Amino acid sequence: MSTSDLTQALTGSARDFRAPQGTDLMARVGPFYEWTEVRRQRSLWPYSKSTQKAPLSTCTAHDDSGMQFTGLNFGTQDYLGLSSDPEIKEVAKAVIDEYGIHSAGSSALAGNTKYSLRLEETISGFLNVDHTVLYPTGWAAGYGVIKGLVRPSDHVVMDGLAHACLQEGAYSATPNVYLHGHLNVDSVRRHLRRIRDKDTTNGILVVTESLFSMDSDTPDLKALQNLCDEYEATLLVDVAHDLGAMGPGGRGFIGEQDMLGKIDIVMGSFSKTFASNGGFVSCNSVAVKQYLKYFGSTAMFSNALSPAQAATVTKVFEIVQSEKGQQLRSLLMTRIGQLRDALNAEGLKYTGNPSPIVPVLVGDEALARLVSRQLPALEVIANLVEYPAVAKGDARLRLQMMPTHSLENVQALASKLRTAIDLAQVEYARYRAAVGGVTGVTAVTDAARPTVTAA
Ligand SMILES: Cc1ncc(COP(=O)(O)O)c(C=O)c1O
Repeated sequence: MSTSDLTQALTGSARDFRAPQGTDLMARVGPFYEWTEVRRQRSLWPYSKSTQKAPLSTCTAHDDSGMQFTGLNFGTQDYLGLSSDPEIKEVAKAVIDEYGIHSAGSSALAGNTKYSLRLEETISGFLNVDHTVLYPTGWAAGYGVIKGLVRPSDHVVMDGLAHACLQEGAYSATPNVYLHGHLNVDSVRRHLRRIRDKDTTNGILVVTESLFSMDSDTPDLKALQNLCDEYEATLLVDVAHDLGAMGPGGRGFIGEQDMLGKIDIVMGSFSKTFASNGGFVSCNSVAVKQYLKYFGSTAMFSNALSPAQAATVTKVFEIVQSEKGQQLRSLLMTRIGQLRDALNAEGLKYTGNPSPIVPVLVGDEALARLVSRQLPALEVIANLVEYPAVAKGDARLRLQMMPTHSLENVQALASKLRTAIDLAQVEYARYRAAVGGVTGVTAVTDAARPTVTAA
């Protein structure tokens, strides 16, 4: 393999292909495929894996080239390990026998089912709010709630690390989008003050997450809600990653911070803890619920959750609130602590607070790709996250935990990651020497973070 091929596979990012040029819309996307193919041929393209078996704590998968590998699975989003739980499977099977597979309509027409109506009530009760709207995915909920409520003359102030569905919803709704410093309440206040100094007639939506999925950290939700009240703004909190899996009774950081029923709008996804696709938006206003159902295009013009999905998620909410749910959360937290200890013992760096997401920091994209390449041979399944999903030079392995991981699993994982990094560092040093230090890789700088609007 030539050094220039390797350089191509170890440098660049998906962002380089974000704005293809030329008249032929189909031909001009070719260079992205060619770049991924160079990486794929060198086993440096770890995306689009497909599981060949249920995603349990060990799993068999194919990579994007069809190569099969089996290993410890820390790359699955199933934070209470319920997606293969016998109780859950029984519910899904029974509802399929009763209803068939499909909802066969959008929720605005005849796609609601007795199971989706029950799920809406369950979520409202769980969050101590009056109303819930369901969406086919969490992405549709995040995009749909912003696009549904915000108009071009309104403003959106959002955390610079907010999820793509929130960012895309915001930018499609209004040109007035301001990214504030990550978790930085003072930055939010400065934005709100500046907007209200000039505009007292239009709406402001402040958008954040209760657990950020790349960094495992959490904002001060009470401070944000207070600010919104002060500046006549509305707060939207995405609880995709903590609801059900963390906090008192599974109420996540909203429960932890005593904000149950006190946040203007809560949205979430079922795809992390609730063993299904789907998402929701909850609030205390029946008018907002009705408006979103007909003006949030991702609910209005998309088929509703299938009856089996709705019934499954309802069953997970029941488990989350039961003794079994409590035990699963407690075991999950034990394993999270044990993994963090094991990583410390191996001298590996991770970031964030204890949560089902444990981001192991690698840094340079080239090194991180080489680390990730080692994983199949070491029998580990874990996801590489690189720029632009995180800042340039801040690549990481995002480990995702389940209570079904054993102590032996987490200890073995830490030791295998140590080996992967050691082996990759040797390759990386050799590569750097071969290219004379000119690798095109960028050191971590604040400037490489997503652009945050000054305030
Ligand atoms: C914070 C956050 N919000 C929303 C979503 C979208 O959820 P879903 O997978 O249900 O579409 C995700 C999933 O990646 C997420 O991490």
